[in-house]
Amino acid sequence: MKFIVNTVAFFALFHVISGLAGKAPTKTLNDGNQIPMLALGTYGFDDIPRMRQAVNWAIEAGYRHIDTAALYENEEEIGKGISDVIKHGLVKREDLFITTKLWNDKHARHQVVPALQESLSKLGLDYVDLYLIHSPEASNADGSPANIDYLETWKGMEEAKKLGLARSIGVSNFNTEQIDRIIKNSLIVPAVNQIEVHPSNSQEEAVKDCFERNIAVMAYSPLGFFVSRGQNGRPGKDDPKILNIARKYNKTVTQIVLRYLLERDLIVLPKSAKRHRIEENINVFDFHLTPEEMAVMKTFNSNTSIFD
Ligand SMILES: NC(=O)c1ccc[n+]([C@@H]2O[C@H](COP(=O)([O-])OP(=O)(O)OC[C@H]3O[C@@H](n4cnc5c(N)ncnc54)[C@H](OP(=O)(O)O)[C@@H]3O)[C@@H](O)[C@H]2O)c1
Repeated sequence: MKFIVNTVAFFALFHVISGLAGKAPTKTLNDGNQIPMLALGTYGFDDIPRMRQAVNWAIEAGYRHIDTAALYENEEEIGKGISDVIKHGLVKREDLFITTKLWNDKHARHQVVPALQESLSKLGLDYVDLYLIHSPEASNADGSPANIDYLETWKGMEEAKKLGLARSIGVSNFNTEQIDRIIKNSLIVPAVNQIEVHPSNSQEEAVKDCFERNIAVMAYSPLGFFVSRGQNGRPGKDDPKILNIARKYNKTVTQIVLRYLLERDLIVLPKSAKRHRIEENINVFDFHLTPEEMAVMKTFNSNTSIFD
């Protein structure tokens, strides 16, 4: 009997330590749900079957948040990874935060819930934690522009939330004017806007606008800063100012870049297919940058998107 009680207590403790905690702190969204401040980005895996392995590595390393999208065509492999980590007892479903996105060719109101159901079926889940409209622009199946107002799309997103298929709903690549149109004409304020933010595209105004509206910001392509170094005269990972900061904390430049975004209360989504980098990228919660160091990081802004 004593053995059983001890065993149950051990597994309960193991779950608290390994499952619920994760490595990243969480932030409260405007609907009361908690979102982990760091997610595994999953766009651009050359080898989609490696995605499953990467999800396993990420959860072992302490990630609890995965960012995917219908567009990435990797939801099935991610679903297998999620099933692995739950089966192995590393986490329970409720410990995980899964974000996926509605692609542009499913913007008609009646298409939203079926599109989410398709994503859920690929992921092997009953619900996602966050569902985003990937972009305000609608397209037809052949990629040509479609004349569908994103307010219609948002109504479909609200239905998805009401049905419990998405715990939180939000947008991606929306500007302030578009967000304000949603707020003015809808019942639910987006919980999140996912936009490109990194040191060379710091997006101060857009971030401020979101925060003033109580909307959390997810920073995509957070490492765009040095991955595209050299282009358009952008400084890169060899810049002595960043190297100095990295040396001071015994961290890598990547970790300094992620920390700079986290200090701004942004949720970061670094993508890596390599185990040692997946581990490196979450090892950013044991130090802080000083206001002076934040000011140095700010000097790298050139309002340059890596997608232009
Ligand atoms: N909503 C949207 O429209 C949108 C658009 C773009 C991206 N996203 C999301 O944001 C995520 C991240 O953005 P991203 O994939 O564009 O770029 P990113 O995460 O900023 O950078 C990824 C690149 O950095 C490399 N890398 C990762 N960790 C590294 C490290 N520690 N040291 C050196 N290099 C490292 C990766 O290579 P390896 O894989 O070889 O390590 C890859 O080449 C995406 O995966 C996706 O989930 C959303």
